[in-house]
Amino acid sequence: LISKAFRQQFVIPEFVQFTCKIEETFRLCSENKDGKVASYIPQLAHMNPNYWGVSFCTVDGQRFSIGDDNIPFTMQSASKVLTYVIAHSELGAERIHSYIGQEPSGRMFNELVLNHNRKPHNPMINAGAILTASLLQNLVRPEMRHCDKFQWITRYFKRLAGGMPIGFNNAVFMSEIEDADRNFALAYYMKDNHCFPEGTNMESCLDLYFQCCSMEVTTETMSVIAATLANGGVCPISGEQVLQSESVRDALSIMHSCGMYDYSGQFAFQVGLPAKSGVSGVIMCVVPNTLGICCFSPPLDKYGNSVRGVQFCKALVDYFNFHRY
Ligand code: DON
Repeated sequence: LISKAFRQQFVIPEFVQFTCKIEETFRLCSENKDGKVASYIPQLAHMNPNYWGVSFCTVDGQRFSIGDDNIPFTMQSASKVLTYVIAHSELGAERIHSYIGQEPSGRMFNELVLNHNRKPHNPMINAGAILTASLLQNLVRPEMRHCDKFQWITRYFKRLAGGMPIGFNNAVFMSEIEDADRNFALAYYMKDNHCFPEGTNMESCLDLYFQCCSMEVTTETMSVIAATLANGGVCPISGEQVLQSESVRDALSIMHSCGMYDYSGQFAFQVGLPAKSGVSGVIMCVVPNTLGICCFSPPLDKYGNSVRGVQFCKALVDYFNFHRY
């Protein structure tokens, strides 16, 4: 429905109606004061709970933003989609999924649990993303030094964003490491179950995972990354084919089933779009073949998803259903 709406030539009244609806929905969500800013990573607790911004980028490069679209925030778990597609593009599905499953865990994103094959359930939860980081480190261009590998990954992120600014929040990175008992426990639990490839150094693997979570963007930048995924791996801003289309296809499938943690089933049922949340308050949502959306508002629900972001995505889909585009 959304695809059809954005593809067809809006006549002025319809376009005005659509942007008015977006603004009306945005304002409604602004009034929602539910949720709590994440504090288990102390640095995140400093975020202003009133921040609220949404950006759109279509697959032909049109962009539209509303609210706090230029407030920087860390990607957190939204980075798990990027590390997955990069590893997938470099290693292929078979190799990656010999280490990581493709099933929702049905648990919290950092639950100490493996699947029946003693592997992480999927690459969208902490366990799976920590393992993806070890695959990037030890199987993708293993000759690279860790500093060069980080720079190589950062450049990949920037290509996905069409050159839009991507920063690094060192204070959040340090805060992640200082309060990382759960992730270290996850990593050593996986090591005890022989999940990692030969030669994995736990500390540097976790460093890479925390570094990717600490990459800093705005909703504008993240909406371009979402649009690159909507566009089969071709960035609508630069026109570059950054990813293999099969990698994007697999990432969207796993986002759809696992991207919103133990709310993924309800999100798939009520919104029906591939999405990935992060504890900074980000939600990246993809409308395949049409556009990418990024919402940002720090207050989270009990699942770790942005309260305003989830409300906005639901209202947007209701609008298109109602108007039967
Ligand atoms: O490792 C962590 O717990 C965080 N760096 C990322 C978790 C996260 O974003 C979960 N998303 N809702």
